[in-house]
Amino acid sequence: MSLTFYNNKCSSFAKTVSDEVAAAMKKDPTIAAGLLRMHFHDCWVRGCDASVLLSGPNSERQAGPNLSLRGFQVIDTIKSKLERSCRGVVSCADILTQATRDAVVKTNGPFWRVKFGRRDGRSSNFNEANHLPSPFEDANGLLAKFAAKGFTAEEMVLLQGGGHSIGVGHCPFFRDRYSNFSGTAQPDPALNPTHAIFLKASCDPNGNAAVPNDHGSAHLLDNHYFLNIQKGKGLFNSDQEFYSDSRTRKSIDKYAASSDKFYLDFIKAMEKMSELGVLTGSHGSIRTHCAIAK
Ligand code: HEM
Repeated sequence: MSLTFYNNKCSSFAKTVSDEVAAAMKKDPTIAAGLLRMHFHDCWVRGCDASVLLSGPNSERQAGPNLSLRGFQVIDTIKSKLERSCRGVVSCADILTQATRDAVVKTNGPFWRVKFGRRDGRSSNFNEANHLPSPFEDANGLLAKFAAKGFTAEEMVLLQGGGHSIGVGHCPFFRDRYSNFSGTAQPDPALNPTHAIFLKASCDPNGNAAVPNDHGSAHLLDNHYFLNIQKGKGLFNSDQEFYSDSRTRKSIDKYAASSDKFYLDFIKAMEKMSELGVLTGSHGSIRTHCAIAK
């Protein structure tokens, strides 16, 4: 993996990705969140190998946590342009990683330099994708899942808080928190009562509306989400759990207090995530179409 991997192989790579991300975000600025989440879900299952982009029966794309992923079209468009200018050279995994970085920068988020050389996986794992972290999980379960992927508690807080500072969550993922938390017929005691009223008003009783993850700063990737968590205004139980647990609470306080610290450490955590279990050298392949293994 190197910063200069495509310099002599595909000089149009960086510009093609950044132009296409800019065009996609002009049409829909929230697509940045779609790409960031897709990148996370890709890296989580068998590494950052673009397996999440493969379609077909029993693919990761069909697993529950991936049904609301969005941004596939952005990657497909970039890929088809790069296949015209640099045939068979650029992996879908590198495209998704770079497109995510570019999209994050466009949400006022931090810049970091991406290393390239990822190759594409040949298989997709439906079962593992179904075990992605769940919004209904408690801190113990989430800490164990992230530790198994090599992340510290602080890195988990950074990635989740940065990720959830943009984009949306659909009501079924948090409805229980304002209506019937853990079968008590009462709201989650950790949920701010004003926020509970806002969430209830934003969701139909049985509908699937989407609510901004980061109330008050929905489109900027910043440390604002941590301030919300401190006030009990997190969306998911999983987010709020990190403020109740002593192993993660101090990181939330630290990053809520300093935007600079948050950006510096978020970058490092993103770099680590984007290099999880990558296939390099002669492993994997360079797909022609990101949705089809070859
Ligand atoms: C503790 C682990 C995590 C859990 C349980 C979790 C869960 C969720 C859920 C349930 C949604 C709502 C999806 C929807 O309604 O469409 C969501 C959205 C999102 N998540 Fe996470 N997530 C976690 C960590 C992360 C990480 C590590 C990142 C990125 C680094 C991330 C980035 C995002 C983004 C950007 C969205 C908004 C997506 C959109 O607007 O389409 N999440 N997450």
